[in-house]
Amino acid sequence: MTLNKQILLDKIATKNATIAVLGLGYVGLPLAIAFAEKGFQTIGFDISRQAVKRLQSGCSTVMDMSDVRVQRMLACGLFDATNEEERLADADVFIICVPTPLNASHEPDVTSIRASVQSIQRQVKRAAVVSLESTTYPGCTKEMILEPLVNAGLVLDEELFVCFSPERIDPGNKMYQTENTPKVLGGVSEASIQLGTAIYEQIIDTVIPVSSTEVAEMSKLLENTFRCINIAFMNEMSLLCDRLNIDIWETLDAAETKPFGFMRFNPGPGVGGHCIPLDPMYLSWKAKQANFFSRFIETAQDINSNMPKEVVNKAVKLLNEARKAVNGSRVLLMGMSYKKDINDLRESPSLAIYEELKRLGAEVQYCDPYVASFLDKQNVRVYGEALSTVQFHQYDLVILLTNHSDFKMAEISEQAANLLDTRNMVKNSLPKVFA
Ligand SMILES: NC(=O)c1ccc[n+]([C@@H]2O[C@H](COP(=O)([O-])OP(=O)(O)OC[C@H]3O[C@@H](n4cnc5c(N)ncnc54)[C@H](O)[C@@H]3O)[C@@H](O)[C@H]2O)c1
Repeated sequence: MTLNKQILLDKIATKNATIAVLGLGYVGLPLAIAFAEKGFQTIGFDISRQAVKRLQSGCSTVMDMSDVRVQRMLACGLFDATNEEERLADADVFIICVPTPLNASHEPDVTSIRASVQSIQRQVKRAAVVSLESTTYPGCTKEMILEPLVNAGLVLDEELFVCFSPERIDPGNKMYQTENTPKVLGGVSEASIQLGTAIYEQIIDTVIPVSSTEVAEMSKLLENTFRCINIAFMNEMSLLCDRLNIDIWETLDAAETKPFGFMRFNPGPGVGGHCIPLDPMYLSWKAKQANFFSRFIETAQDINSNMPKEVVNKAVKLLNEARKAVNGSRVLLMGMSYKKDINDLRESPSLAIYEELKRLGAEVQYCDPYVASFLDKQNVRVYGEALSTVQFHQYDLVILLTNHSDFKMAEISEQAANLLDTRNMVKNSLPKVFA
């Protein structure tokens, strides 16, 4: 065993390792707080001045992390948020949690990972572990982290240990959070796997080591692509059931009674968030590089991204049945975030539905207790109606898009003149509309 590896293992076991988390968003902040709460000196580094300012003043930047937990860790001095890259010089462990979006050509945009690695390269002062958590394509950890750092002169297994450990956080999930969600971890060497496992075992109940970073990278994409494809299948089935005049929800309830060989997924107005719409594209991009074309991924993306249009088509049809043109009709969207009880608007299908209805001339308003306002395509700030005062009967059509727990379905369905329910929120009542 190399001396540095032993020193790092000892530092981790005695909680004397300093952890730096790069990127303090949905993934990075809960992770940084989890390490601080376990007694590790934790530096949160983010390029957003606004986010750092908020955190320094004791305000959390994500819903799943309470202000109190941030304040407690700031007060005891175990956590600090900073924009100053030089602060990374104190770290023994670097965990990268920066965004991995798609560029304009729908290809992986790993510029934030590259920037993080450059920050580490400039600041690293001693033997260190670098772990990537951002979702990415198989091979990325080696290409984007290992190679540049080795080229900069760091010696693998002497001064550098590199892992990939995908984040599985499910925003809004009260049962599974950072600590109790099993975590897959792959390393570029045996020593990297050992060190990575030792680090994450400090905060995660179950760490699952795998033999390479590629397996860990692929496992994350496989999980989310599986979800994307199954949702797409249910979306397609919902369109078919609508055509056949069969209730998709009752059908799903029936199918779900099979105690084996069936796993339920639900249709909806489309997919959103930073993961399901994006991650499969990382995989299909990588597949194309190997001259392999994943028909499943392309088809699923096509179906899911068309769902907002299907919802609008249905809305137009329902208005037509009520002898109303969409142009000039008053439409209320219930729920803008992409899923229940959270405020995340990223890639939310509600935004696409809002834009399309506006384009068709509807007077569109929305109500979402988690989203006070949002910027539309024209960069105009749109403000929501308050749930406590909204008058459902004043709208020609109310569209239920996000199944927030605060929505009182009995009240909405009683008052709304015309209702389009994309999530089976008004259970077992007709018209049970989907698409
Ligand atoms: N949100 C989720 O539910 C989720 C779940 C699993 C995996 N992931 C993956 O985790 C990664 C992060 O996602 P997120 O949702 O936390 O993103 P986020 O946008 O909430 O947070 C990312 C943070 O990184 C900061 N940042 C950007 N470039 C930086 C840099 N060079 N140095 C330091 N900070 C930088 C941003 O300012 C931002 O605060 C992505 O790859 C995503 O696919 C997200």
